[in-house]
Amino acid sequence: MYLVSCILFFSSCSSWFNLGILGILAHFRHYFIMLSAAEKTLIEVNDVHKSFAHNHVLRGLSLAIRQGESMVVIGGSGTGKSVLIKCIIGILSPDRGNIFVAGQDIGSLKEKDLYQLRKKFGMLFQAGALFDSMKVWENVGFGLLQHTTLSKKEVKKRAIEKLNLLGLHQIEDLMPSELSGGMRKRVSLARAIAMEPEILLYDEPTTGLDPIRADTINALIVEMRKKIKVTSITITHDMVSAYKVGDRIAMLYQGKIIEVGTPDEIKNSTSAIVQQFIQGKAEGPITQAEAQI
Ligand SMILES: Nc1ncnc2c1ncn2[C@@H]1O[C@H](COP(=O)(O)OP(=O)(O)OP(=O)(O)O)[C@@H](O)[C@H]1O
Ligand SMILES: [Mg+2]
Repeated sequence: MYLVSCILFFSSCSSWFNLGILGILAHFRHYFIMLSAAEKTLIEVNDVHKSFAHNHVLRGLSLAIRQGESMVVIGGSGTGKSVLIKCIIGILSPDRGNIFVAGQDIGSLKEKDLYQLRKKFGMLFQAGALFDSMKVWENVGFGLLQHTTLSKKEVKKRAIEKLNLLGLHQIEDLMPSELSGGMRKRVSLARAIAMEPEILLYDEPTTGLDPIRADTINALIVEMRKKIKVTSITITHDMVSAYKVGDRIAMLYQGKIIEVGTPDEIKNSTSAIVQQFIQGKAEGPITQAEAQI
């Protein structure tokens, strides 16, 4: 869209300066390259369906995430948000439709190539998914221990740095069972960012945290995007977090993305479904539809 409007703008300039369209295009070629990079799609979900027995969860879901973008997915409990990101990372396979990551159709990849592609991702699982038999630092450094030649001492040092970044100090030698729920969440987040991946998937990163800790996590998500240009998908019910971290917000409802827009566009959405959800109202089209099931 930007590209088209730029071409129209510069072609109108051409008549003013009598330079001709080719001269103008050549002159501004680096701007075109920059703009098209900003628009490049890194993850594309096309008409994805996923059912579990008779439970048709995803029903033709499409969503495109641009490189370097922070996309937030909102939607009611049980609508399929976690299923969606598990499909994106290849833990679950769609029944129909395709998912492209960096141009690769993940459904057509062999196990070995899928394993390579997964290295691009860091994932914060909703339930944390820590290894209970490993110390905190071993959990955080798990990917580094598995996929790099770094010594245990170096991995531990890096794990401690990530833990400190998340406000966790001197817990590296504890076992997960010795942590509070909020601490476990932050340890999982430290593990997700430890490999400094290209793509981060955060499933409910602020749920269960006090408001100050939640805001620290929001700031971290924003920082990861700014500093290391990470592309991310954040799933959340927390609208404060959604507005803070999202370049765009997508609403999942009845198995499809029904609206995508900037935080301001979502706040001003004319959809009664979106408005009921973002305002957290008990009454509206979402609850009416549920009552009819
Ligand atoms: N492995 C599975 N086997 C069977 N059903 C599943 C499986 N995973 C998810 N489901 C079902 O798919 C639906 C969507 O689940 P999902 O976990 O994606 O919801 P969600 O939108 O993430 O909800 P929440 O906000 O509560 O985390 C639910 O009905 C759930 O029971
Ligand atoms: Mg979920």
